[in-house]
Amino acid sequence: MKLTSTLLPLAALVQFVPATLALIDATWSMTNAPPGGLSDITFPMRIDMHPYNDGYFMAQQVQFVKVPTGSGGFAYIGLETHMNSTTGQIALSAIFGSTMNRTEPASASCRHGAHQGREGVVCNTTTWNGAGREYQLEIKNTGNTTWAGIVRDTVTGQHLQIGVLTLEDGIGGIMGDEGKGMVEWTPWTDDDVNPDHCDTLPYGSFFLGNPTTTHESTVGTQDEAHESGDCIDQVNFVTEPALAFGFLRVGIDMNCGTPGQTGE
Ligand SMILES: *[C@@H]1O[C@H](CO)[C@@H](O)[C@H](O)[C@H]1NC(C)=O
Ligand SMILES: *[C@@H]1O[C@H](CO)[C@@H](O)[C@H](O)[C@H]1NC(C)=O
Ligand SMILES: *[C@@H]1O[C@H](CO)[C@@H](O)[C@H](O)[C@H]1NC(C)=O
Ligand SMILES: *[C@@H]1O[C@H](CO)[C@@H](O)[C@H](O)[C@H]1NC(C)=O
Repeated sequence: MKLTSTLLPLAALVQFVPATLALIDATWSMTNAPPGGLSDITFPMRIDMHPYNDGYFMAQQVQFVKVPTGSGGFAYIGLETHMNSTTGQIALSAIFGSTMNRTEPASASCRHGAHQGREGVVCNTTTWNGAGREYQLEIKNTGNTTWAGIVRDTVTGQHLQIGVLTLEDGIGGIMGDEGKGMVEWTPWTDDDVNPDHCDTLPYGSFFLGNPTTTHESTVGTQDEAHESGDCIDQVNFVTEPALAFGFLRVGIDMNCGTPGQTGE
């Protein structure tokens, strides 16, 4: 069946994570994005969990203007949690990547092969201890089709370049919509995942803030979060708008899982 064999790989590329792995999806949008796309976007994020485990990955996806059909689709930027066995504390890695064909690494921190073994490029920073702290993750054009991923610690003001990558010639800026945030529990990639795995999800608490950009008169909104994947209604998922000064909506808070679980 020609139709099936043509459509399946495309569907697989549009889907960010296998169904068994995704936990939460949350779209966002920006008003007044220029037709050629935005040249920068910043996502506020916070992640916390108890006890400390390897395994959560929270990211925002962005789509670009003028991506050739079938090239895979998007870039992403996010935080990954790790257990530091020396300190017993949570450590975070900041990740920046592209799933698009013909993306090339443009800094030493980047390599071919996107997160979860897809096409593209993934860049990774040194880890920080920083649970419960807000970070700002920025994707910024540095000329032509070259983009840098940057992470800022909002408490210390420290910022690090996660990596730099170059997209295929002719690709434009970041679209003001079609993007989404997601949370996944990465150990559940195995096909032989425990049938009761949804009950074993460790507690995690997450914040996704409204995206911002330097483009004049563009305003970003983080939409509500929804459960996705195969654990819907099974992981104690709760979400609510995150408010500043008691009334101004700044994003969304989410949590899921059960304290004491290890996610095996
Ligand atoms: C992108 O890469 C995939 C996997 O190698 C391939 O199947 C697909 O044809 C490529 N798309 C384009 C537009 O080059
Ligand atoms: C764990 O923490 C120690 C002490 O802060 C640090 O030196 C080490 O690099 C950390 N390890 C990882 C894998 O983050
Ligand atoms: C990022 O680096 C950390 C620490 O070396 C590692 O544990 C993790 O697997 C890396 N993640 C990716 C997506 O490369
Ligand atoms: C952009 O591309 C042009 C033409 O290939 C090149 O001359 C120029 O140096 C590039 N600029 C940057 C910042 O990479």
